[in-house]
Parts: sequence; C-alpha cells; structure tokens
Amino acid sequence: MSKDSAASVTGLISIANEAKEKSEARFSHFRVGAAIETANGKIYSAFNVESSSYGLSMCAERIALWTAVNAGESKFKRIAIVADSRGFCTPCGACRQVMYELAGDIDVYLTNQKGEVRNYKLSSLLPEAFTSKTLLDGRD
Ligand code: THU
Repeated sequence: MSKDSAASVTGLISIANEAKEKSEARFSHFRVGAAIETANGKIYSAFNVESSSYGLSMCAERIALWTAVNAGESKFKRIAIVADSRGFCTPCGACRQVMYELAGDIDVYLTNQKGEVRNYKLSSLLPEAFTSKTLLDGRD
C-alpha cells in the first residue's frame, strides 16, 4: 500500500501498525508490519506473508521496500518496523542486506508493545556490509 504524506516518525509507526493488523502470519502467528518512507515523503507499507512451505514466507520489510522499488522509487529516508513481540523486532539478516543495497544507510525505527521507540542507522545493524561496490571492485 502507498500513501502520499510526509509522516512524522509517529505517523510512520502508526502506518506500520495498520499494516501489521492485516498480516498473513497464519503459521507463526508473528505479525509484522513495515512502512518505508521515500526521500520525497511517500510511504509504502506491507505486512509479512507466510506460506505452508515455510521457507517461502516473506518479511514485511522486504515486501514494503520491493513494492516501493516496483513503483519506481530509488531514494529512501527511513523505515518503521513493528511486531507483536514484547521487545523490539529487529530486522532479520536478509532484510538488513536487501535494505542496505536498495535503500542505503536509512534510519530504522522499531517500537515495542509499550510504545517505546528505538532508532538505528541501518549501517549500525549491518557493519562492514557486502555491497555491489565490493562485487564490482577489480573489474575493468
Ligand atoms: N518477519 C518479518 O516480517 N520481519 C522480520 O524482521 C522478522 C521476521 C516475519 C517472517 C515470518 O513471517 C515471521 O515473521 C516469523 O519469522
């Protein structure tokens, strides 16, 4: 889903929460919602979607980001990630890699059930990241 407003962090978190409510987590029952904001203030949100072939399930963050990329977006500012967990739902390793490659060093906002908010730079969650720079290094 996409929205056209430059939200505050609180607004971004509430859009991620709205997405979480629609989560398709029928196997893990672990509902996750994510909302990513572009440099121009457009917001794309998504929830996790699970498969009976568990490994084919997909995280909310990657769906939100890929939806934005499919819509032609390439510059991003921040992402909010929310889950039903008591603690903060830090993104999985695969999402960290994909977000870093496609969105760069964005701000990551996490919230817990008490409504407390934590903010990280993505690079602090994925230090010494492997990127296309390394991949292409040394090629003519
Ligand atoms: N999940 C996410 O959507 N994002 C994360 O950062 C961690 C995990 C989902 C995948 C799966 O549907 C469920 O949570 C349990 O792993």
